[in-house]
Amino acid sequence: MKNYNHIPLNKRLALLFTITHIISIAAALAQQGTLDLTNLQDYAGQTKPDYITKDNTPAGNPITNIGATLGRVLFHDKRLSKNNTISCASCHQQQHAFSDPNLASIGVNGSTGRHSMRLINAKFSNETRFFWDERAVTLEDQTTQPIKDHIEMGFSGTNGDQNFTDLITKLSAITEYKVLFTGVFGDPAITEERVQRSISQFIRSIQSFDSKYDLGRATTNNDGAPFPNFTPAENAGKQLFLAPPPANGAGCAGCHQPPEFDIAPNSRNNGVITSLDGTTDTTNTRSPSLRDLVDKTGTPHTAFMHDGSLPTLASVINHYNAIPAVVPNLDPRLSPGGQPQRLNLNQTQKDNLIAFLKTLTGTSVYTDEKWSNPFTANDEINIIILPSDKTSITFTSNGASRTANITSPAAPNIEYIFQTSSDLQNWTSETVTSTPSGTLNAIDTTPETETKKFYRFIYKPTP
Ligand code: HEC
Ligand code: HEC
Repeated sequence: MKNYNHIPLNKRLALLFTITHIISIAAALAQQGTLDLTNLQDYAGQTKPDYITKDNTPAGNPITNIGATLGRVLFHDKRLSKNNTISCASCHQQQHAFSDPNLASIGVNGSTGRHSMRLINAKFSNETRFFWDERAVTLEDQTTQPIKDHIEMGFSGTNGDQNFTDLITKLSAITEYKVLFTGVFGDPAITEERVQRSISQFIRSIQSFDSKYDLGRATTNNDGAPFPNFTPAENAGKQLFLAPPPANGAGCAGCHQPPEFDIAPNSRNNGVITSLDGTTDTTNTRSPSLRDLVDKTGTPHTAFMHDGSLPTLASVINHYNAIPAVVPNLDPRLSPGGQPQRLNLNQTQKDNLIAFLKTLTGTSVYTDEKWSNPFTANDEINIIILPSDKTSITFTSNGASRTANITSPAAPNIEYIFQTSSDLQNWTSETVTSTPSGTLNAIDTTPETETKKFYRFIYKPTP
């Protein structure tokens, strides 16, 4: 009696299948509506340049490929709003640097009081608080606030809205989520903490380091040296950005700290104090990273500042060139000697600063599939392939035949499909129902002479 128990599943797969075989099949499977948890997108292993050192990831919630995959689904799911029309991605659109081209974003009960924020490189900052006014103490804390907002997604528990517990009840009834949460956490329970952890992992994974700036920064050891790939105007703009006023600088780097271009903690407001409804708002002291302010043609994704009041980079530079007034909570760096800052930049200097800001835009973040909408055009998930790392397999061999006993944790009392294949292309399917305690069990017997056999459990929602 041969026993293969001691060989882990992954090793056994490696023994039986060539790598190319697996990759070509995986590529074919990567299509909208398919969540292949045996072949996850790489969120956790992404490389970043050596000079990027700031990181606000809490020790308890590192990015994992499977956690960020669940976060991706939640981020793009309109069912997180009360009338199934608005997802996080409605206001944070990948092609617009995860912001919204509209000044005020449309939620389930009207439009937002502030302009949406880009979500690129949110992980790489010293500042750990989020929102323009920094009212969320961590990203984890931030992620469920839009859901609980009456205007944005409508599970506020006020104004006749249901509350967050009602959303959990709603999501818990969706079989795909039972399957997914079990795949990620081992059991189907949906909690606010699990939603926060997975969406935060997804947002922290959104990174952009393939800009012209990064190419230059990688070839020099510091920001101060001229970058060989920059035009003279871009290098001159970089110097203006870095150097403090009043000498030869515009002082931007004092608050938007390169190379992450994150906001310096403890910054106060920058003199932009109107709001979308016309009232005064002096509480805004955070800016998202200044990376990816414009698209690769140099066009702004959307207007700048919390009130969207500055539509172009030129208007931004003009604002700092002549701060309109000393206002409550204005950052003292913008009111030297108690007077509103006057940089007295000439047109060439302004143009140079703009040229430099445009070098901060990357490319792949706008199209990379790992941050894209995983749902089909009909807002559906078609197939979930269960993760292999939670599947275990034991073999018993009996002379001419070999029996494989395959088990996996699963959401209780659900019909899954057990599939076998010898070429990873043609699968034989058989329905299996998970036990009330949440286990899937399948048995497959093959002749001992057969060397290739591949097993998986999948879930297919019934339309
Ligand atoms: C209706 C539009 C809308 C929806 C839906 C929405 N957001 Fe936002 N988001 C905004 C606006 C507007 C802001 C800025 C609000 C403020 O600062 O008061 C923002 C800010 C943020 C920030 C802060 C970024 C920073 O750098 O501080 C994060 C993170 C974020 N949203 C994530 C999410 C997530 C996750 C969801 C879904 C659960 C979501 N948003 C849903 C409009 C929206
Ligand atoms: C004293 C700190 C400080 C300095 C100096 C400063 N900024 Fe800002 N910046 C901020 C704050 C705070 C915000 C967010 C303002 C808001 O929307 O209320 C901001 C917002 C911005 C934005 C808009 C970001 C967005 O997502 O809409 C741009 C662009 C910008 N700053 C560029 C610059 C440039 C260029 C300079 C130098 C000329 C500069 N800043 C100098 C603090 C500063």
